[in-house]
Parts: sequence; structure tokens; C-alpha cells
Amino acid sequence: MAGLHYTHAVVRGIPTSLATGALRSSEAEVDLTKARQEHADYVEVLRTRLGLEVVELPADEALPDCVFVEDAAVVCGDTALITRPGAVSRRGETKAMKEALKKLDLNLVEMTDENATLDGGDVLFTGQEIFVGLSKRTNQRGAEILAEVFKDYTVSTVPMTKGLHLKSFCSMGGPGLIIVGASEHAQKAFSTMQQKSKYRYDKLTVPDDFGANCIYMNVPGKGHVLVHMNGDQFPESFKVLEKLKDYTLIAVSDLEKIKVDGALTCISILINKKTNI
Ligand code: GLY
Repeated sequence: MAGLHYTHAVVRGIPTSLATGALRSSEAEVDLTKARQEHADYVEVLRTRLGLEVVELPADEALPDCVFVEDAAVVCGDTALITRPGAVSRRGETKAMKEALKKLDLNLVEMTDENATLDGGDVLFTGQEIFVGLSKRTNQRGAEILAEVFKDYTVSTVPMTKGLHLKSFCSMGGPGLIIVGASEHAQKAFSTMQQKSKYRYDKLTVPDDFGANCIYMNVPGKGHVLVHMNGDQFPESFKVLEKLKDYTLIAVSDLEKIKVDGALTCISILINKKTNI
């Protein structure tokens, strides 16, 4: 199966403006010191536990959501689609991302159609095909352009009734395994994906939607590795993940970024380059 193993990651620093300016659905106050510590710990996991070469972009105070790099590009193989994020305040985030991915020598395509919007958080690559959530941030035209760019894969749309992004309530948990939150809309999205696919996916349901946002990687010498939010955050979901056999589980904290609707996958772009640059 293609994908689900990676060599590089792109991350970005947290601007002070995140605390007051980031888009959010809750009023919870962000502790910037804690947010930055959590982020540093996460980057350390990418580097030392997952063995990735990490490119760190500096924060930009003019872009409060810039730490959520996943939305600015979709990378699959050696091709990167620079997106046109659904929120106007986030469009400027693509500039630094484009430059970083260019330096990594990826084939870049830019979404320039003014009728298209796409956030990378709505894109789930299973290793065999791509699902894209039609959300408040991603529209049909954005999904069509994604399909034109990644022609080697079937791209299927998943209409979303709730949640910010498709991956706000699901993520890959292994080859052919999708971790899904227990909410009605998350379960419905999984059913839609299964109905539209010619492949059969196993489903691992966790009680918390946010607890379903994990990072799965096949790491050379380690096998199945799952980075997940720690047990203090989502204890019931953690109990389900703990039962995964033959996995290395790595717990990280994401409490502060969740306050501004950011999950684990949102804060890195994972890349699988055939050869190191
Ligand atoms: N704060 C993440 C987003 O709304 O895009």
C-alpha cells in the first residue's frame, strides 16, 4: 500500500496572535506558554520518535492560525497541491508553505481558481484513495481540483453536516483502518466513505470525536506507530486505542490548540520523499 510512511514533516511556530485572533468555535482562553511547550514536545516526537526530518517555519503574527499547516497544502507522493483555504483570514498561510515545499523539491500545483476552496484538514489519504470532506471550508470545486491533481487516486467527496474538518473526527489508524469518533455525524461520514469505496475499511470507534484524530505511521524498525492525544485529555478514547495490538503508542498533549479547533494532524504536513535531499 502506498503512503502511510513518511520521511519529512513541515511545521510552523505559534504566533502570539493565536490566543486572540485564531478562528475558533469556543471561548476558552489559550495559555500560550503551554501551547508552545506542547508544540515543542510534538515536534520532538516527530523528530526523535518518528525519525522525520522536520522543517520548521517561523510563526507570522499576521496569520493567527498559521501553526495549522495541514490546511495550506496537500502532499501525496512527490506532488504538493497548495490549497486555497476556505477562511479568507488564512489564505496568506500558503505563501511560506509554497516556498518550503519548493525547497523540498516537490512538484507544486497551486489552486488558483477563485471559485475553489480547500483546507487540507478535509483531506483523508488512506494509502489507497482520497476522501475529501465538503465542509464550511472546502467546496465541490476544491474537491474537483484535488482529483485533477492526484489523478492516480480515486477521490470521493464526503458531505459534512457538522465539525470543522473531515479529520476533526477521523483519521487513519493503520493500513485499511480508520479511527472514527462516536458522534452521529462522524459515524455517518464513515458510512459514506465505506459506501463510496471499492476497498473494505475496518472501523475503530472512539468515544470522543477529537480523540479520533491521530497520526499513524509505519516506521522502519518499529512497525505500527500511533501518535494520539494523551489519556488525561480523552481517557475513554485512550482505553480503546490502548487495545491496539502490536502498536507503539505515543501520547502527546494538544489541550491548548484544541481550544482553537486544532487537532494533532493539523499541526504538521507529512511527506514521503523517495530520496533525502
Ligand atoms: N483555528 C483553526 C481554524 O479554524 O481553521
